[in-house]
Amino acid sequence: MRILHATSELFPYSKTGGLADMVDGLAKALAGHGHRVGVVTPLYRGIRERFDRWGRLEQKIDLPLTWGRVQADVLTLEPAPNLTVYFIDQPHFYDRPGLYSEHGRDYADNAARFIYFSKCVAHLARTLPWQPELLHLHDWQTGLVPLLVAHQKGFEGWRPAPKTLFTVHNLAFQGLFPYHEYALTNLPPIYYHAEGLEFHNLLSCLKAGLMFADRLTTVSPRYAREIATPEFGCGLDGVLRKRQAVLSGVLNGVDYGEWKTRGNPHLKYGYDARWMNGKAFQKRALQKEMGLPQAAGVPLFGVVSRLSEQKGVDIELEALGQMLAKPMQFVLLGSGEARFVEKFQELAAAFPDKTAIRIGYDQGLSHRIEAGADFFLMPSRFEPCGLNQMYSLRYGTVPIVRAVGGLDDSVTDIIEDIGAADGIKFKEYSAAALTKAIHKALVLYQHPDLLRHYRRNGMQADFSWERTCLEYVQVYERALQETDALAAGS
Ligand code: ADP
Ligand code: GLC
Repeated sequence: MRILHATSELFPYSKTGGLADMVDGLAKALAGHGHRVGVVTPLYRGIRERFDRWGRLEQKIDLPLTWGRVQADVLTLEPAPNLTVYFIDQPHFYDRPGLYSEHGRDYADNAARFIYFSKCVAHLARTLPWQPELLHLHDWQTGLVPLLVAHQKGFEGWRPAPKTLFTVHNLAFQGLFPYHEYALTNLPPIYYHAEGLEFHNLLSCLKAGLMFADRLTTVSPRYAREIATPEFGCGLDGVLRKRQAVLSGVLNGVDYGEWKTRGNPHLKYGYDARWMNGKAFQKRALQKEMGLPQAAGVPLFGVVSRLSEQKGVDIELEALGQMLAKPMQFVLLGSGEARFVEKFQELAAAFPDKTAIRIGYDQGLSHRIEAGADFFLMPSRFEPCGLNQMYSLRYGTVPIVRAVGGLDDSVTDIIEDIGAADGIKFKEYSAAALTKAIHKALVLYQHPDLLRHYRRNGMQADFSWERTCLEYVQVYERALQETDALAAGS
C-alpha cells in the first residue's frame, strides 16, 4: 500500500504531545511491514540544524493563498527503509520559536499557516511520483485536506484521487477561525454552510475533516463512542453520529524501541520484570535529581503532562493538597497554563520536602519520571488515548487513571480482573474520587507481593505498533475497497 501521512508534529523533529509519538510510531511500523510511507510535516525552527543527510525535492511548491501566492521548498529525510519525511520549508510560517503559540498566545495567522500546510499536502499527494493511494490526516491542522482532495476530484479531474482517512486525536482542538479566513482556502463558497465546514458562524478546520474524509478514526475505541455523545462531543457529536458508519477507534501503540527500561540513553540504570533493583536505583536517582529526600520506603507519585483542563489538573491539585500530609512524595514535569503552573508552585512551597516541580519540556526527564516513580497520575477529564499510562505500564509504574477514553481501554483495575490488574481506576470526576484512588495506591504500596503482581502485569502488557498498525491497515483496506466499488459503479 502507498500511504501519505500529514501531521503538524512528528517525533523526533517536533513535539508538544502524543500526536508526535503516534504518527512516528505508526509510520515506522507501516514502513517496517513493507508499505511505502511518506509523512508531510512543517520544517520548524531548529530541525534543519539537528539532523543531517537532507534531500530536497526538485520542484518548488507555489500555491495560491487568498490573493497572493506562497512558495515553499520541500526538504526530505529517509529515517528508515520505505519511509520518507517531507518537510515544508516556508520560513515565514514555520521558522518561529513555537509550533502553535508563543507566551501562551496562539499565532494570529494560524489559519494561514495550516491552511497553507493542508494545500501543500494535497499538492504533494497529487504530484509525488509514487502516487499515494491513501492520505492519512491527523487533527485539525490537516482538516482541510479531505475537502481539497474532494474538490479537486470533483472539479479539476484529479483521477484516481487517493482516499482520505482523518484521525481525531483530540476533539477539543478544532481550528476555529472567523469566517473571513475562508478566503484562504481559495475554494468557492459552496462548502461554507452547516453541512460543510461552518460551525456556529466560524470556519472549523476539524469539521472539514469530519465531513469530507472518506473514513474517520479516533485513537481509542472508547473515545470513538464517547465523542458521539453530548458530554464528550464538543458540539460535534451530531456530526459524528451522522458519520458513525465510517468512524472507528484504534488504540494507539507504543514505540518500545524508544520507551524501554534497558539500553535507554535517558536512564542510568536498566531493569526489567526479573531484575527490579534497577528501578529502585532510578527512584533514588530521580529523588536526587529533583532535590527530594532519598527515601526508599516512601511511595513516589509522578506526573508528566500538559497543564490544561483536559488533564484533570484541578482535581489533582485538590487531592494532592489533602494527601501530601501522608508519607508520600510527588514529582511533576509539565508546561501549559500559567494559572496551573502557579498552583503547582504553591503546592511545592507548602510541601517542600515532599514535592518537586519542573516547568518546561524535557524528554529525558519524562523517561526518568516514568522509571523512577512508583505510581503515575492521569486523572483526565477526558483522554482520547493517552500514552503516558502505557509508558508507565512498561516501566513498572502503576498508573492511577480516570476511567475515560484510552485510559479505560488500556488499564485494568483489580475490580475488573484480579489476575490481570495493572492499575487503579476511578470513575467520578472529583477530587474525592481521586483521593480515594491515591489511598488505594498507598495501601497497595504496603503489600509488596500484590504490587509486584501489578508491576509484572503492566510490564508484560503489549501495545506495540507492530501489532496495532495492522488494525490501521484494515481501515485503509476498507477505504480502498470503497474506491474500487465507486470506480466500478461509475
Ligand atoms: P497529550 O498528547 O494529550 O498531551 P499523551 O499522553 O498522548 O497526551 O502524550 C503526551 C506526550 O508528551 C508523552 O510522550 C509525554 O511524555 C510528553 N510530554 C508531555 N509533557 C511533557 C513535558 N513537559 N516534557 C516532556 N515530555 C512531555
Ligand atoms: C492527543 C490526545 C491524547 C492522545 C494523543 C495521541 O494529544 O490528547 O490522549 O494520546 O493525541 O493520539
